[in-house]
Amino acid sequence: MNIILLGPPGAGKGTQARFLCEERDMIQLSTGDMLRDAKESGTEMGNRVAEVMARGELVTDDIVIGLIREKLEGDKKGGFIFDGFPRTLAQADALADLLAEEGETLDAVIEMRVDDEALVARITARSTCATCGEVHNDNTKPIPEDGKCAHCGGTEFKRRADDNEDSLKQRLMEYYKKTSPLIGYYYAKDQLSVVNGLGEIKDVKAEIDKVLG
Ligand code: AP5
Ligand code: MG
Repeated sequence: MNIILLGPPGAGKGTQARFLCEERDMIQLSTGDMLRDAKESGTEMGNRVAEVMARGELVTDDIVIGLIREKLEGDKKGGFIFDGFPRTLAQADALADLLAEEGETLDAVIEMRVDDEALVARITARSTCATCGEVHNDNTKPIPEDGKCAHCGGTEFKRRADDNEDSLKQRLMEYYKKTSPLIGYYYAKDQLSVVNGLGEIKDVKAEIDKVLG
């Protein structure tokens, strides 16, 4: 089963993708994570896109399509979760072609619907475990009092360069201009399901499970 999690910055795509990996043996393909990894490992491409990402703008289609193409050729396990990809109509068309080349189908597109006010509060309170990538939140899912990651016990946490109010405004602008048209695109293809991303994490998970069956 291959699915897309579609939603604005902070909608909870990464949080929900982790459940699907653990419970359904799926593979999370987050282009944001891939681009940040490329920066950390000091690749030329990683350094080139770091400033674009920090400003909250989109990286070019060619780069992200190339990243996804590489992953689709590997082990498919329980299927792919596309998290933060596609983000433009060109990326959506490219994904359809790549899946067809691999003999795969797109089984669901889940729009995680939230409102903009909730996003600022979520994003500015987010931190991520440097060891396992578990997402925490100062308000809704704080790092345990002993300072250890709730998932792996790691003690180092990171905050993202684009998790500030100015970059978030730009990220939202990019979402509404370039990514939100995908909602209509997948609706017209009869592939769209909508979940309420404003509920508690466990309730959002339950809604996604219901869609996926
Ligand atoms: P990316 O890394 O994809 O960031 P994003 O889309 O802005 O989304 P986030 O990762 O910020 O949010 P999320 O939905 O994963 O939420 P999370 O689960 O963490 O992209 C970053 C950048 O990379 C882009 O701006 C662009 O430059 C570039 N890029 C990436 N892909 C690209 C592409 N395809 N094309 C071009 N450029 C690309 O949750 C957020 C917080 O909320 C957490 O603290 C969490 O604990 C909390 N939370 C989650 N769910 C709930 C809930 N239900 N209730 C309360 N709190 C919750
Ligand atoms: Mg994410």
